[in-house]
Amino acid sequence: MSKKLIVGNWKMNPASLEEAKRLSRRIKSVASKLQRTETVACPPFAFIGQTKPRITAKNFDIGAQSASVFADTGAHTGEVSANMLRDIRVKYVIVGHSEQRQNGDTDEIVSKRLSNVLTQGLIAILCVGEKARDEAGEYLNELKKQIEQSLNNIPAKMAGNIIIAYEPVWAIGAKEAMLPEQIYETSLFVKKIFADVFGPEYGHRVRVLYGGSVNFRNAFEIMTVGKVDGLLVGRESVNSPGFVELLKAVDKIS
Ligand code: PGA
Repeated sequence: MSKKLIVGNWKMNPASLEEAKRLSRRIKSVASKLQRTETVACPPFAFIGQTKPRITAKNFDIGAQSASVFADTGAHTGEVSANMLRDIRVKYVIVGHSEQRQNGDTDEIVSKRLSNVLTQGLIAILCVGEKARDEAGEYLNELKKQIEQSLNNIPAKMAGNIIIAYEPVWAIGAKEAMLPEQIYETSLFVKKIFADVFGPEYGHRVRVLYGGSVNFRNAFEIMTVGKVDGLLVGRESVNSPGFVELLKAVDKIS
């Protein structure tokens, strides 16, 4: 059985390198003792180098929150390429987070970022999710279109390096997470679309994470009732006592 995957998206936190190093050390010390859980912390670019353990830690890794749409080095001010991330031995990269989509990333841009990440042999955590739910189920079409277009131009041989993070936008930074039963239903839908794009064998294998207001209290139920392969955690991932509790709760799931 594959391990659960818990990804912490630190966003633009914490404020200082010292805090970032402390947070990373604390998470690593707990994560490396877990049996059934892999943990990835994604700090801001500025802190990646110094939060990454010098010696590979068991079940703990540092990831990045994005990668440039540009594949090659050159005159691209402010950009960080997937190639650079690979060079500093980053293995996981979040792609298409809704906050970037809100800042102008279209599906086409997301697909370029994704392609660059995969071309470098890195594992992409592709974020998708509807903005709102409606009675008529229009949100399912929105989700389908987003997945299909984000995966546009990605060859099936790269599909094994894609993890989908299903994050309904309305549940991000909210008070409550989505109901676990709804998470289960929608994660099946996501797998189905993935299978339609790449073929059934990939649909069975793709790992789907849930993200949106996950904390140490609701993580266990989301994982067990929602039957997802892991979690993408925002706020709780920079709150070390809460995140440590969350990891321990998830590791109890056999
Ligand atoms: P949240 O963020 O856990 O703070 O809701 C999740 C995310 O944006 O990935």
